[in-house]
Amino acid sequence: MTTPAISLKGIRKRFGDLEVLKGISLDAAEGDVISILGASGSGKSTLLRCINLLEVADAGDVVIGGEAIAWKPKRDGGREAADRAQVERMRARLGMVFQNFNLWSHMTVLENVIEAPVHVQKRPKAEAIAEAEALLDKVGIADKRNHYPAHLSGGQQQRAAIARALAMHPRVMLFDEPTSALDPELVGEVLRVMRALAYEGRTMLVVTHEIGFAREVSDRVLFLHQGVIEADGRPDEIFTAPKSDRLRQFLARTMPA
Ligand SMILES: Nc1ncnc2c1ncn2[C@@H]1O[C@H](COP(=O)(O)OP(=O)(O)OP(=O)(O)O)[C@@H](O)[C@H]1O
Ligand SMILES: [Mg+2]
Repeated sequence: MTTPAISLKGIRKRFGDLEVLKGISLDAAEGDVISILGASGSGKSTLLRCINLLEVADAGDVVIGGEAIAWKPKRDGGREAADRAQVERMRARLGMVFQNFNLWSHMTVLENVIEAPVHVQKRPKAEAIAEAEALLDKVGIADKRNHYPAHLSGGQQQRAAIARALAMHPRVMLFDEPTSALDPELVGEVLRVMRALAYEGRTMLVVTHEIGFAREVSDRVLFLHQGVIEADGRPDEIFTAPKSDRLRQFLARTMPA
């Protein structure tokens, strides 16, 4: 068997009295597109944040490209990542696209895209620029390369954020509701870019409320409910013949009639 791109084993996370994740296990194979659905507050963002180590899971293993995060105990009884360098190495394998773009406002689009390749990965600047231009062309905003984020539409900013993540050559792309802050007429242009990435064979975990997108491009769809994966299946299993009552209720509320 080939090594999964991401493997989660029994991930638990609690905030005070609230146990948000109650043992999430998941293998994403190379090239898998996995959509994650769930009501607001069901822990979708927390799960992605546990993968890229913005949150420390209380228990369970996070394995990226076959390498498990090493933990060490903290005095308060919790735990933390044992090795900073390992955390940086693991994060570099993950491209993250958030709801709110998170571009650096004082840099042009091109500067945003080359920043980490040049300053973190120490790649030659001319090479990073050439690649950034190709990526901006791919996401359809080559003409905006010298603009500042504030002068772009939301959809353009989000496409710049996707180009910035791709410039790091991540093994896996993590998307957290990348279209939910956009005006409805701008959603399509971002989904188009994501669809192209999916069809290229990229490994993607996508938290989304875009049911049509999830149905069309996912290899698998997960439904998070009350801290566990309540349903996990191919899009037709999830959307056409949902077995779980919880999932049926969720879809009835979410899907256009
Ligand atoms: N840092 C934190 N401290 C305390 N509680 C938190 C923290 N982060 C998340 N929570 C709580 O954990 C639960 C899950 O939050 P999370 O953001 O993962 O949900 P979500 O599924 O992404 O929701 P949404 O669809 O609204 O984005 C919520 O009840 C939230 O209030
Ligand atoms: Mg969220």
